[in-house]
Amino acid sequence: MHVIRVLSAAVALAALLHPPARAVVPQPDTMRGIASPAATLSSAGEGRRVYLKLNCYGCHGMHGYGTMGPNIAGEGDVTEWIYAGGAQGMPSFRALMTSTDILNMNAYLKSIGTPVEPTFTHWWEAVPSQ
Ligand code: HEC
Repeated sequence: MHVIRVLSAAVALAALLHPPARAVVPQPDTMRGIASPAATLSSAGEGRRVYLKLNCYGCHGMHGYGTMGPNIAGEGDVTEWIYAGGAQGMPSFRALMTSTDILNMNAYLKSIGTPVEPTFTHWWEAVPSQ
């Protein structure tokens, strides 16, 4: 009896000294691994930021003109492709992009080849220096 009482007191004391760690609720951007700076650019600029951040350029080229994936410069609305992906290798980005990201992506793709096309590569900077 005495041993049990001492043990349970020890357990209670341990719980007091080491409270269970607070649950950390992951925020969307930390779940994606990389946080974006707060929006500071034009819609096309924020679209370019997402284009670089999510590696669209890996398949569609640095400026959208296509490599392994097709030329998507000037594309009007990417919503369906972002949601469903494609059978030839286009992944779905539904879980990774907000509706604002998609609107910004449309603005970016439409700007390609025009004088307002953003061409920076330092997407992680609030105001990209390059
Ligand atoms: C792993 C390679 C890959 C990545 C990464 C990728 N795509 Fe694609 N994408 C493709 C391929 C391949 C197609 C051809 C269609 C298919 O897969 O059926 C395609 C098709 C598309 C199309 C349709 C083009 C058309 O025919 O009208 C759009 C728009 C598009 N991608 C946008 C994007 C955007 C935006 C991103 C980034 C968020 C992205 N893609 C990332 C490979 C990729």
